[in-house]
Amino acid sequence: MMTANTTNQSSSDNITPAGNTNPASEAGHTSQTSSASSVSKESPATSISQATTTGHTSQTNQAARTAADKPKIVFDCDPGLDDAIAILTAAYFCDIVGITTVNGNVGIDYTTHNALAVAQIAALDVEVHRGASRPLIAPTIDAARVHGATGLGDAKLPSLTRTVASNDAVGYICDTARSVDELHLVAVGPLTNLALALRRDPDLPKHLQSITIMGGSARIGNVTPVAEFNAWADPEAAAIVFKEAAPVTMVGLDVTRQILFGMTEVDRIREAATPTALFAASLVAYAYEQSLQRGLSAAPIHDAVAVITVTHPHLFTISAHPVTVELQGETTRGMTVVDLRPRKRIESETRPASDSSSGNTSPDNPDSNVVWEARSETVRNLILEAVTTL
Ligand code: BDR
Ligand code: CA
Repeated sequence: MMTANTTNQSSSDNITPAGNTNPASEAGHTSQTSSASSVSKESPATSISQATTTGHTSQTNQAARTAADKPKIVFDCDPGLDDAIAILTAAYFCDIVGITTVNGNVGIDYTTHNALAVAQIAALDVEVHRGASRPLIAPTIDAARVHGATGLGDAKLPSLTRTVASNDAVGYICDTARSVDELHLVAVGPLTNLALALRRDPDLPKHLQSITIMGGSARIGNVTPVAEFNAWADPEAAAIVFKEAAPVTMVGLDVTRQILFGMTEVDRIREAATPTALFAASLVAYAYEQSLQRGLSAAPIHDAVAVITVTHPHLFTISAHPVTVELQGETTRGMTVVDLRPRKRIESETRPASDSSSGNTSPDNPDSNVVWEARSETVRNLILEAVTTL
């Protein structure tokens, strides 16, 4: 069921993939408008003004906001073209308490170097903590094919004047969750650091305001027919997170593919002509070229959408379902299986655990908040506003 937050979309909001109706409603679920309670224990977005869908910028006037108005986040990432845009987006709309890095799009040396470089280019006063250099169990396989050999396409990076604050991202996440009130964790790479943090401190979720991940898909994948890169790159870690960090907000390909960037957006970013904007334009231009080569018409900037989900949840349609990460399947490993059956049916249709052929894992899994639809033009304008104004 489409809800109020999607009814007044402009036509250019409707760039969803073919057949992208909300399967939650097909399954008889009431898909909720993203209310504060559906996204976080106490949404930060209640203090953020509604963006308009007109004009080049959304006029949210973030510059005038004090850090106290902005959600405090730890940003776990593997930069990565879209991770870098997401850092800039977060720097504008959030109070980034710290950045942690993880192996993913490229190796940990590159992702850490890139996080430091992004912070330096945008003059961000933020610590960077280096994290896991490999997945828990899975072999290390990168996405350099998409992001370029060093992870940031062909962007020209400055010589680093910054160094990491520590080599212990996991310890940093655990400590910061306990010492900073109302902290949101946003993870946009493979979930290795977060899984290790949950192993170290099973109470971690109690100390976080919300956990939002860019990862997974309820429908088609981007590295296999059914698996999305971040879930697929470390599926054991993703399985731990969905099971032990509930409720996680899953910003998967279902929604991130609705917010697309092409040369019009690259030109708009370039027009701002600041060093940060020129850097961002080169990243989006590279992502766009890569997307064309892969048969897409424009580039999704996945990770930045996860940031906007935290800061502007009213722009998204979200509903709660158990999510199970497939670990065994020959062709489905890394798939995030979203159980769209109503909870009552999940319970009544579950076969006993002793039935090894059942494949019924959902009843053990708590609900996650699955993000389905976005007011895409508004979300894209917010990302543009961030990278051109920061
Ligand atoms: C995700 O995979 C990575 O390549 C991107 O940075 C994003 O986090 C999209 O599937
Ligand atoms: Ca990423």
